[in-house]
Amino acid sequence: MTEANPLSHRVVNDPLSNPVVTGPSTTEFLELASAEVDLSDFSGTLYAEVGGRPVFAELARLFYASVAQDEEFRSMYPEQDLYPARIRLQLFLEQYWGGPSTYSQHRGHPRLRMRHMPFHVDAHNRDVWLGHMNKAIGQMDLSPLHAETLRDYFDRAAHSLVNRPG
Ligand code: HEM
Repeated sequence: MTEANPLSHRVVNDPLSNPVVTGPSTTEFLELASAEVDLSDFSGTLYAEVGGRPVFAELARLFYASVAQDEEFRSMYPEQDLYPARIRLQLFLEQYWGGPSTYSQHRGHPRLRMRHMPFHVDAHNRDVWLGHMNKAIGQMDLSPLHAETLRDYFDRAAHSLVNRPG
């Protein structure tokens, strides 16, 4: 069966319900994402170097603001409200770059490739995703080295998530 819209969400499994997850409820998770973080607990990490939580919150905000304006790409996201997805991205990135592990406390191991399987990540969608992210990075006040470090990471990570030919 061919799908009318190749970007539409295919219900293979629900990436938003992870059975291994324990920890705070969704509401708590959303609230935790705006709690203040003491950067001295994370000294020596890129997380602390770039400025910690507010910087990742802003990056995720700008990324999803850009996605929201892209009707075709946005149709791939299963939820009406992009806010929870934005918070998941923020907390994942905070954890990845050495900050608090709130993401895994709530969502379990990231297993990003597995979580992306229900979505049509082909070369085109990968590049659209990267376009939104690179635009968001460009709107931030990051040092050239930090901006390049993030771009390089996203480029490699997005390539590793491709799960459809084409
Ligand atoms: C560097 C590349 C990427 C990173 C770091 C990333 C990160 C994430 C994270 C952390 C989630 C939430 C997972 C969860 O807790 O359930 C997610 C969800 C999702 N991602 Fe990605 N992603 C990347 C690339 C892509 C690409 C290339 C696409 C599409 C072509 C994509 C589409 C989606 C969709 C549709 C969701 C579900 C939205 C949601 O969380 O509710 N992602 N991604």
